[in-house]
Formats: sequence, C-alpha cells, structure tokens
Amino acid sequence: MKIVVTGGAGFIASHIVDLYLAQGHEVIVIDNLWEKGGGKRQNLNPAARFYELDIRSPEAAKIILSEKPEVVNLHAAQHSVKISTDLPGLDAEVNVVGMLNLLEASLQAGTRKVIFASSGATYGPPQHLPVTELTPQHPVSPYGITKMVMEHYLRYYQLEKGLDYTIFRYGNIYGPRQDPNGEAGVISIFARRILNGEPVRIDWDGQQEKDYLYVGDVAEANLKALTGGDNEIFCLGSGLGTSVNELYRRLSRIAGNQVPVVRGPKRPGDIYQAYFDCTRAHQLLEWQPRVDLDEGLRRTVAFFAPEVPAQAAFTG
Ligand SMILES: NC(=O)c1ccc[n+]([C@@H]2O[C@H](COP(=O)([O-])OP(=O)(O)OC[C@H]3O[C@@H](n4cnc5c(N)ncnc54)[C@H](O)[C@@H]3O)[C@@H](O)[C@H]2O)c1
Repeated sequence: MKIVVTGGAGFIASHIVDLYLAQGHEVIVIDNLWEKGGGKRQNLNPAARFYELDIRSPEAAKIILSEKPEVVNLHAAQHSVKISTDLPGLDAEVNVVGMLNLLEASLQAGTRKVIFASSGATYGPPQHLPVTELTPQHPVSPYGITKMVMEHYLRYYQLEKGLDYTIFRYGNIYGPRQDPNGEAGVISIFARRILNGEPVRIDWDGQQEKDYLYVGDVAEANLKALTGGDNEIFCLGSGLGTSVNELYRRLSRIAGNQVPVVRGPKRPGDIYQAYFDCTRAHQLLEWQPRVDLDEGLRRTVAFFAPEVPAQAAFTG
C-alpha cells in the first residue's frame, strides 16, 4: 500500500513509518522538522521518501496530489499545550488549516482513508472514569480544541465526501525517541535526568495518575487501521492510571540510580486522574497493548542510556 505519513520524523510517527516499511508498504514522509517539535532527521527511516515541507504549504498538498497515496496518516501537529495557549492562532493554523490543506489534497488525489492522531486532551477533566469514546469532550486548551475540531471535520469529510477515517485518541505515549527536552513526555524527561544524575521535578503531590502507553503499541494500532476500524474513533491507552511518583520509583529502580526530587506547584490545567477503557479498540480493531509499563520503561531507559557515561548512569 502507498501511504503518506505526516510528522514521520517525530516521535510517534517515526515508529509508525518503521512498522509500515517492515510490513512491505511504500511510505512517503512529510515533515518540516519544526524546531519546537520533536522531529529529528535521525528518526527518519532511509527507506521512506522524505519531503521537508510544512503541512500548510501548497507544496505539501502537491506531494499528495502527485503521489496519490491510498492512505494518509496525519501525525504532524503543533503538539504543545503551552504553545497553544501562548499562540492559539499558530496552533489553529497548523492543527486545523494545515490539516484541511492535506484533506482537500487527499480528496482530489483519490485517497481512500486518513488516520488521525487525536488526543485525550479533547476531554478536559473527565467527568467519569475510565474515559471511553462516549465520554463528553470539554477541552480546556486550544490544543485540545483544535484536535476536537479536526475530529468533526473528519466526520464531515466522510459524510459529505466519502473520505474514510480512523481517529485515535491517545493517552500519554512514551518510548524511545521521545524528546526529553519538551514540556511533556515525563518518562523521557525523568529517564534522561535519572541517568544523568540530575534532580527531577515533581509537580503537585505527584499522585496525579495518567494512562501511559508504549509507542510500539501505538504503531501496531496504526498498522491495524490500514485495513480496519473505518470511520471509528478509538481511545488508545493501557487502561491503567500510573502516578508520577510511581514512574519516578520504577525508573530509578530500572536505571539503578536515585536522584533528588524537587517538588513544584500544580501546573495550570493539569488533571488529577485520567485513564482509558480501550474495549472498543480491542473488539473492533483486535488491538491490545502488548508492552507492559516495566518493559516499556526498560526500553526507554536503554534508549537514553548510551547518551551518558556508564559510571554516571549506574552508580548511586
Ligand atoms: N506524545 C503523546 O503522548 C501524544 C498524545 C496525544 C496525541 N499526540 C499526537 O500525536 C502526534 C505526534 O506527536 P509526537 O509526540 O510524536 O510529537 P512530535 O513533535 O515528536 O512529532 C510531530 C511531528 O510533526 C512535525 N510538524 C510539526 N508542525 C509541522 C508542520 N507545520 N508541517 C509539517 N510537519 C510538522 C514535527 O516536525 C514533528 O516531527 C501529534 O499529532 C500529537 O498531537 C501525541
């Protein structure tokens, strides 16, 4: 199958690209290596054709028009909640107007289906736990709003123009290649700091629980969506809540290092507890997470470990 993956130099989509290629698909990546995102040239699989382009540009649309992919997988985004609150116009330009540029091109190119990376941020503070596809969405950030808006556009494009979709609402995704310098990605931030012997900061009381899912399991779901889950929305998570304190304890044990903990205040908009019920993905997509938290943390620590001298990593 010929597939365009946007954001394929970034953390999550680079794993999707690797899996698609390993399964024999032809992959074209569109990514502008945005300096504030997690996209890196070294994440790019050399077997994919790469176009360094902004999804808002006419050139990106032209690639879709000329390549005529069967599936377009939409992972490129402005993905920072903080940037979205500081610059809501930029957030909407990339996450809505840029996406519409690609949707229009996909329609013209005869693309059968798009796969879209939505987010648990579309819910805001959940009214009920676990969160399911039917939980009301009340996003509390421009980022959550633009992701939710795109879900509605996809429903519209399907109903009115026949372009099929699968929407994934991701929990907190973690694993190798996640940017440890970003604002999110607590696991990669902690893993690198613990390995480097640097203090970690834990905000609020650290008991706030989120749903952490290993990136390889996300790639599996995106593989299954090539042939299934048409016009469905799926929550993707582990189904378990894990606290920040617990992540710190497990990562310290796995890395074999203890570092000081600096306590900080609650971050604006942070949510105390959120985790998913992923029954729908299990039933309709035959997907379930295969990498448990300890194994995923081990793989993440192993990814970051070569960056630091062995002595610094494993003493203490
Ligand atoms: N990481 C998570 O836990 C998580 C959770 C929910 C949803 N998501 C969504 O998954 C997707 C991938 O996230 P990620 O964590 O891998 O982030 P990432 O920053 O590593 O990847 C995003 C990629 O998009 C590219 N990009 C940004 N703006 C672009 C533009 N205007 N034109 C072309 N490319 C552009 C970046 O260069 C980067 O390579 C995003 O849509 C994000 O909103 C991620």
